[in-house]
Amino acid sequence: MAETPRWAAEQFWKKVAIWVTAVSFLVLIVLTFDSLSKTSAGTSRVPSYSVINKHIGYTFDDRLNRYQPVIGQDEPLFNEVLSEAAAEHLVTLGKKTIQAKNCMNCHTLLGNGAYYAPDLTKAWLDPAWGDEKTREGLMLAFLQDPEANARTYGTGRKMPKLGITEAEARGIVAFLKWMSSIDTNGFPHNFKTAEEE
Ligand code: HEC
Repeated sequence: MAETPRWAAEQFWKKVAIWVTAVSFLVLIVLTFDSLSKTSAGTSRVPSYSVINKHIGYTFDDRLNRYQPVIGQDEPLFNEVLSEAAAEHLVTLGKKTIQAKNCMNCHTLLGNGAYYAPDLTKAWLDPAWGDEKTREGLMLAFLQDPEANARTYGTGRKMPKLGITEAEARGIVAFLKWMSSIDTNGFPHNFKTAEEE
């Protein structure tokens, strides 16, 4: 009787399965740390939280052929310069409120979520908030009572009142400002700021 070739033996495929699983597991660990190092605040594409003390612009980069956030001169949010820790605290309050109120049920953030309402990644830079000086106030008012401050350009859709306190709204505005400073490779495509129109 001819001997079973090595590649046809059950033992061989068991070993292959163990090796493939082990190597994939290692690759997954490496990729996890690699992603964390690129998506944590304070890295090249994701600014640290104290960026909310600065002006955030959005200009078209001819070389990259896409819009890029540009961090400019001092422009503290709510006229108060925050330390890195205080800024992180405020942005975290915003993030937790956004999670607690499930904004992703209607909106997308960095592309994740639902498609009923606009993506919020660059909402801070939305020209509809008008003048940069009025923006903070309009956002605070809108978040606390969207019905009374409805914007609904063209869509006819309205955001419901979600019982957000002023402190929580300030956190959300800080979160939105910080998120707008993230270099998202031009996402969302076709988003334009007032300066660009
Ligand atoms: C039931 C759906 C719904 C939920 C939940 C919801 N929104 Fe909205 N939101 C909308 C709609 C619809 C609009 C657009 C209408 C408008 O602007 O008046 C909007 C508009 C906005 C805008 C203006 C967007 C821009 O481009 O400038 C912001 C900011 C915003 N929502 C933030 C939030 C936050 C933060 C939460 C969670 C606390 C939230 N929304 C939860 C439906 C929702």
